[in-house]
Amino acid sequence: MKVLVVGGGGREHAIIMKLAESPRVTELHCAPGNGGIAKYAECHPVKATDLDGMLALAKELCADWVFVAPDDPLVLGMADLLRENGFKVFGPSKAAAIIEGSKVFSKHLMKKYGIPTAKYEVFDDAEKAIAYIREQDTYPTVVKADGLALGKGVIIAQDEDEAVEAVRIIMEDRIFGESGSKLVVEEFLTGPEVSVLAFTDGETVAPMISSMDHKRALDHDRGKNTGGMGTVSPNPYYTKEIAEQCMREIFLPTMHAMNGENRTFRGCLYFGLMLTPDGPKVIEYNCRFGDPETQVVLPMLKTDLLDIMEAVEDRKLEDLPISWKKGACACVILASGGYPEKYETGKEITGLDEKGQCAGAAVYHAGTKLSEDGKFLTAGGRVLGITASGDTLRQALDAAYAAACGVSFEGVHYRRDIGARALAAKK
Ligand code: AMP
Ligand code: GLY
Repeated sequence: MKVLVVGGGGREHAIIMKLAESPRVTELHCAPGNGGIAKYAECHPVKATDLDGMLALAKELCADWVFVAPDDPLVLGMADLLRENGFKVFGPSKAAAIIEGSKVFSKHLMKKYGIPTAKYEVFDDAEKAIAYIREQDTYPTVVKADGLALGKGVIIAQDEDEAVEAVRIIMEDRIFGESGSKLVVEEFLTGPEVSVLAFTDGETVAPMISSMDHKRALDHDRGKNTGGMGTVSPNPYYTKEIAEQCMREIFLPTMHAMNGENRTFRGCLYFGLMLTPDGPKVIEYNCRFGDPETQVVLPMLKTDLLDIMEAVEDRKLEDLPISWKKGACACVILASGGYPEKYETGKEITGLDEKGQCAGAAVYHAGTKLSEDGKFLTAGGRVLGITASGDTLRQALDAAYAAACGVSFEGVHYRRDIGARALAAKK
């Protein structure tokens, strides 16, 4: 089987490495890919959001499967276009991807179907949003741009000034572009966060091993929100009882809700949950594998990923047992200096071998490219995800950090406390 993976980050690198384990996968392609992925799959210079270009590439390659990993092509309808042209695709339709593409849609969905989430109001007018915030007069409060914003469209405002500023930069300055034509103001929730990715074919939901992201740029959850600075799996706060409650109150109701709206979701549905004192609540849905959650979830998967892709596409997920390795996995993201704000690229990365790997850990490349003379250079905000597994979380973290020490580039920064909260929960 020839598989084309759409995307070019750490998540896609982890997907490629898992697909490479499948005895039935004979050729791996990636578009656009990156410097590290190029060592394991043939990379093609087609942008992830170029629908026609991707269709032409899939045709040229005679791809048996296309795995659409990022949110934006899914929200634009890439999976539909490929399916209409006879390709087997892993990834939801445009109609279903709206669950991530519009926070207004997902909030209304949860309200309509009684799925627990933060209380909210929607606005398409800045002055009305500000008037509502002043009337509520409760802080922190949360202001979210409606559409996709690279994981950065959420502002937790600590006081009225910050909340007003958030509304203005989202709606008036449009720092997230058209994503800010509407916004959601919602109640601030507290509690440990859990990411649960789940395979679903619209009839069955099969949750994967749980994980914990670390979204803030700096140690102790300080600094700005980022795409994710590190992850661990499993998430110790996510007990068997909570998992059962989430299945009953959140996962199955969401699948049925999407069916009820004629937007059946087939693919990987990501539940961003907060375990509040009032029970688990949905913070966000994503229509795809999370990044960097995938980097700690897929290494734990024992079942052939291609078998799962087939079961999802053929609606036979119910018949497929999916098994997971024991132990734990940890991923530390090495980011460019300045990320998530302005940063420089093109810095030479040291400490990687010829394949872009290092001893003691798997290195998932997120933002790298190869120079003409074969060196790895930085090419994005998040550069590498150094990932290790172990019998215990402590072992996995020690191995990931030991490996991270040996890899460097000018301006590199990474959090030193990935997994600290998870370790504290275990005591
Ligand atoms: P999102 O992109 O929606 O996942 O939001 C990014 C991060 O903002 C989440 O992982 C949470 O840490 C935080 N967040 C979002 N919504 C809320 C909320 N209602 N209450 C507290 N924190 C939130
Ligand atoms: N790590 C969060 C996300 O993929 O949106």
